[in-house]
Amino acid sequence: MQGATMGKIGVFDSGVGGLTVLHALHRRLPAEPTVYLGDTARVPYGTKSPDTVIRYSRTNARFLLQHDLRLLVVACNTATAHALEALQAELPVPVIGVVEPGARAAAALTRTRRIGVIGTAGTIASGAYQRALAQAIPGAEVVARACPLLVPLAEEGWTEGEVPRLVVERYLGDLRGSIDTLVLGCTHYPLLKEAIADVLGPQVALVDSAEATAAAVEDALRGRPAAGGGTPTRRYFVTDVPARFPEIAARFLGHVPEAVEQVDV
Ligand code: DGL
Repeated sequence: MQGATMGKIGVFDSGVGGLTVLHALHRRLPAEPTVYLGDTARVPYGTKSPDTVIRYSRTNARFLLQHDLRLLVVACNTATAHALEALQAELPVPVIGVVEPGARAAAALTRTRRIGVIGTAGTIASGAYQRALAQAIPGAEVVARACPLLVPLAEEGWTEGEVPRLVVERYLGDLRGSIDTLVLGCTHYPLLKEAIADVLGPQVALVDSAEATAAAVEDALRGRPAAGGGTPTRRYFVTDVPARFPEIAARFLGHVPEAVEQVDV
């Protein structure tokens, strides 16, 4: 086992959604210092071209690297789908995305190998989850579907009741009874777990990539705990401070983030 290591875990997302991944990291690795960047000026990524998402992801990573990173988490599914390979090839620290951990978690849960995956239009069009699931689960039958309306519903806090249920029914109702596992391949979807479970029924296991990614980070850091004791630093940067930011961010993080700094990346 190696000794304690300096450096922070850097996490970026297109906006506030990656705070679900950060929240899972804080729960699992409470001693690790973290630095988060939400690219709130350029969100959403889910509707943008792969080249644009790669360009944005590079600038986000470059910014975070100035903060003494030991590892970078691409907490955005769309950025992982388009830019993970480029970042892993270019950066001097390990880079973990959300797609592979989600696919591995699905592999551990499925019995029938009939899996659904939902995400933004960009994530689904990239085929990244479809490839990762095919690799993790040989012979898997994968139904992939973009569910773009779930992102604004989660940000608006409309996560319970009739409205999200109807939207989820429209997107996923026909999958009831035909899959046994559904990967929530977007940072926002874990907030809609209840509505999704209501529509698909208890026999469908829901995979939250945030939890699976935090577990992958823990694995990657195993044997290399954070240096020093006391309260670890947790810094938050955004590229814009939109109206209602603290309220929306709290939905994803579980509490209002401490001092948020606005930066131009
Ligand atoms: N963070 C994005 C994702 O997980 C969702 C929001 C967006 O479109 O940027 O794919």
